Amino acid sequence: MHFFSSKFKIGILGGGQLGKMLLFDSRRYDLHTKVMDPNNKAPCSNIADEFIVGNLNDYNDVINFGKLVDIITIEIENVNTDALEYLEKIGKKVYPPSKAIKIIQNKCEQKIFYKSNNLPTSAFTNYSNLANLKEDLEKGNLKFPFVWKSAKFGYDGKGVKIIGNHDDLKSINDSPCLVEEKVSIKKEISVIVSRNFDGKMKCFPAVEMEFNDNSNLVEYVICPANISEEISTHAYEIAQKISQKLEMVGLLAVELFISNDDKILINEVAPRPHNSGHHTIECCITSQFDQHIRSILNLNPGKTDIKIPGIMVNLVGENKIEGDAIYKNINYIFDLPGVNIHIYGKEKSRLNRKMGHITIVNKEISKAIEIGKKIKKKVKVTS
Ligand SMILES: Nc1ncnc2c1ncn2[C@@H]1O[C@H](COP(=O)(O)OP(=O)(O)OP(=O)(O)O)[C@@H](O)[C@H]1O
Ligand SMILES: [Mg+2]
Repeated sequence: MHFFSSKFKIGILGGGQLGKMLLFDSRRYDLHTKVMDPNNKAPCSNIADEFIVGNLNDYNDVINFGKLVDIITIEIENVNTDALEYLEKIGKKVYPPSKAIKIIQNKCEQKIFYKSNNLPTSAFTNYSNLANLKEDLEKGNLKFPFVWKSAKFGYDGKGVKIIGNHDDLKSINDSPCLVEEKVSIKKEISVIVSRNFDGKMKCFPAVEMEFNDNSNLVEYVICPANISEEISTHAYEIAQKISQKLEMVGLLAVELFISNDDKILINEVAPRPHNSGHHTIECCITSQFDQHIRSILNLNPGKTDIKIPGIMVNLVGENKIEGDAIYKNINYIFDLPGVNIHIYGKEKSRLNRKMGHITIVNKEISKAIEIGKKIKKKVKVTS
């Protein structure tokens, strides 16, 4: 198959920042790309070879898009999987496969998948509605505190709540959901594993994620994670097993908890490039985006060794009312060593919207962390 400098087309569903960073590497390989996103000003809109506006959840929009390309991939998992299944049936290559996306889209299904494959995850109960959950509380089958998660459409911590009492219950929607045991978390780590069609897999070094307590958003990603070799080896085994069982083709980002008693539990997975892998652009021999492209083209995976340690700082909107984005004090970072800035290209900033990120590299991770935390305090995205 001639992929490079040819008529071969990669179709990407979603045109956000993950797509934009994928396009930098697809350009490097001179691959032809076509992107669909509902927003005509999405970050990919002025970089893809072809860009069309369409609804990622609309059956016909996805099919019409898929028919015009050779391989279909995603940069967001909230897409119409029935359409992807149809495209698979007519012989299109859909990577990751629709079946894997379908499981991952629904947190209840994800948990069942882990359980039935003997993969470690926190104890849980699935509910088809809020009334069933309340019934279980009344019967004493369920006790406070617990973690409530919406089965679908939660992202950036929006569909997740820690419920400590009856009052907290008032804030949750009536929809299919699950309840998880509240884990005493020592650390949150992430492992991104790639798998190509031939089944060749490769893990990126585990990273540590630090969250903002108020927004549930990832604030810092630190590479490498400060964990024992025993734990990292176990985490890689788990990540590879999930990828294999899902018959993934492409990247799988695996979010894991390390509990206070040093157990590893799977939190959730994402079948695409991930926020916890942005640092790979500067820190690793191969970036997560390069690796995703290699996987879906069934090429050999690149080495994932760390070239230099680093920390990734998310730049998120802090303005409550949507408005034209301003990057306050951004000039401050240009004097600091090892700093790499990525602005996604979103015209409007709003509260907690991911607008860009900064990766700080340093031979000594403690120095990178020091600089990263200073930047977080000083640089603000607002309107
Ligand atoms: N069972 C649990 N026990 C304790 N804390 C939890 C549990 N589940 C989730 N959390 C906390 O809530 C955060 C968000 O949960 P989760 O990753 O499921 O949500 P999400 O909305 O999909 O997030 P994102 O899109 O940011 O990855 C986790 O990173 C963790 O800090
Ligand atoms: Mg998460």
